[in-house]
Amino acid sequence: MAAEGRIVWVSGPAVKADGMASAKMYETVIVGESKLIGEVIRLTGDVAFIQVYESTSGLKPGEPVVGTGNPLSVLLGPGIIGQIYDGIQRPLKALSEASGSYIGRGITTTPVDLTKKYHYTPSVKAGDQVQAGNVIGTVQETDLIDHSIMVPPDHKGGTVAEVVPEGDYDLETDLVTLQDGSTLKMYHRWPVRKPRPYKTRYDPTVPLLTGQRVIDTFFPIAKGGTGSIPGAFGTGKTVTLHQIAKWADSQVVVYIGCGERGNEMTEVLVEFPHLKDPRTGKPLMDRTVLVANTSNMPVAAREASIYTGVTIAEYYRDMGKDVVLVADSTSRWAEALREMSGRLEEMPAEEGYPSYLASRLAEFYERAGRVRAAGSPDRDGSVTLVGAVSPSGGDFTEPVTTHTMRFIKTFWALDAKLAYSRHYPSINWMNSYSGYLADIAKWWGKNVSEDWLSMRGEAYGVLQREDTLKEIVRLLGPEALPDEEKIIMEVARMIKIGILQQNSFDDVDTYCSPEKQYRLLKLLVDFYNRGQQAIREGTSLAEIRAMPIIGTLLKARMEVKDDEMEKLDEIDNMMKEQFKGAAEAKVRN
Ligand SMILES: Nc1ncnc2c1ncn2[C@@H]1O[C@H](COP(=O)(O)OP(=O)(O)OP(=O)(O)O)[C@@H](O)[C@H]1O
Ligand SMILES: [Mg+2]
Repeated sequence: MAAEGRIVWVSGPAVKADGMASAKMYETVIVGESKLIGEVIRLTGDVAFIQVYESTSGLKPGEPVVGTGNPLSVLLGPGIIGQIYDGIQRPLKALSEASGSYIGRGITTTPVDLTKKYHYTPSVKAGDQVQAGNVIGTVQETDLIDHSIMVPPDHKGGTVAEVVPEGDYDLETDLVTLQDGSTLKMYHRWPVRKPRPYKTRYDPTVPLLTGQRVIDTFFPIAKGGTGSIPGAFGTGKTVTLHQIAKWADSQVVVYIGCGERGNEMTEVLVEFPHLKDPRTGKPLMDRTVLVANTSNMPVAAREASIYTGVTIAEYYRDMGKDVVLVADSTSRWAEALREMSGRLEEMPAEEGYPSYLASRLAEFYERAGRVRAAGSPDRDGSVTLVGAVSPSGGDFTEPVTTHTMRFIKTFWALDAKLAYSRHYPSINWMNSYSGYLADIAKWWGKNVSEDWLSMRGEAYGVLQREDTLKEIVRLLGPEALPDEEKIIMEVARMIKIGILQQNSFDDVDTYCSPEKQYRLLKLLVDFYNRGQQAIREGTSLAEIRAMPIIGTLLKARMEVKDDEMEKLDEIDNMMKEQFKGAAEAKVRN
């Protein structure tokens, strides 16, 4: 029986109601006369603590609270792609139309248009056995997304009695009827806080290629992996996340925006619908779902948004797609958690965040993975999770950053100093790391070049040596270094300008293919080894610095397109010639 209680206390988005003994944890409840949507987040005796996903202004003690019997769930079916949702999957557009203002209260809209018809092609017939996860047919959701209709993960399955013939149907049509009389439609619901089941999980051995050199070459992330981008105000978090959304080799993007400043989210809402998918020229929204939290939305919806987003991501994963979810920024999400916790008068831990901040972050990042989906036919898909963190003042010792670091494996540390000097992306190569490097190296070895890992290691070694030498230069001046060490400084400078820096707004530089990344890396490592040898054989550093090849190498990232690899062969030849010339000049003198 549904719980029916009365409000006894209201504090912002937090409400206490008594008479709720039959309610369950995380049950969705309808709050007050204006029928606001809320969720039970704590139960003490017959008192339920409820977070309300809508503005509670005007809500008073004595008003009714009614349980729905269901946990907070999302609707999963065709029509999700291209939508802009709030944190509990209400379409922002439909909301603003229904309420006339930006966001209304107590309005029930469906997450997708249930009356829209899709062309359904069945893949089962009468007499077939189906079980949870099985694909029962497909529809074309957008130009870019073919959508598998699946038996819900919690369905007991059965024998197919009847299937509608191929044709156009809306979401409410019973497509498949089983012998026990139960029916399957184009959509089902799934609770947001419950990970969707899968058959097996794979090791993270396949890179998610982003086309961003500092990521793919130096601090790679795996498909199904986890990554974090912490950075102070204005250091490039959003630009980096946009680059990942646009360029990563995933089929579906879930973009969760948790903006604090009003305009931050508007940027996304205005910008994203205009972005083009660079590979197909179609709108990026044809393979994107936006979950948007603006500062005028209740904090509880912001708290829910990451679960809504990751559940949608898992749904597309289950179709066998690679999905990348980016959250900008998880600090705003954590602040929502802190505010709710404060309202509930819980004992605060570090900096006022609740003690369960860490376990909530873990629950979120644990939902990443590359998996074999449940049911047949065999499908492999992945959910990669990337969250920005915005520690105030760029202090990485604050709780959201430190707890996040425990659960992610790729850490791209943005550096305000680099950003000031316009070194973009401002990912600090000394403070960043990737736990996937060893696993992913095998992919590069097989698909790009066998010596990828050693090239990457040599280049990284130069950057590390430079970092130590920098200190000596600072104390004693550059002249304190012998030429063999000065060339390390010179090559480190070249790696920074020629590889690490990447201009998101340059047509050529914005994306770099794996092949080009490797070739640029190899050219610079070759330059380093040739330079070292030349110096050993008596060429001066001044002569090396005067070589025109240096300028060519630094510009190659901008000037050589992905389909012009033969130009890099020419650069390679020029480099050989110039070092040969220097050696010959030395012999003549
Ligand atoms: N890869 C890049 N290429 C070129 N410019 C960049 C790049 N990354 C960042 N920038 C520049 O830095 C500016 C700030 O970046 P961005 O808005 O991503 O920072 P942020 O960390 O998200 O800031 P906030 O803390 O305000 O959210 C951009 O407007 C852009 O001019
Ligand atoms: Mg930003």
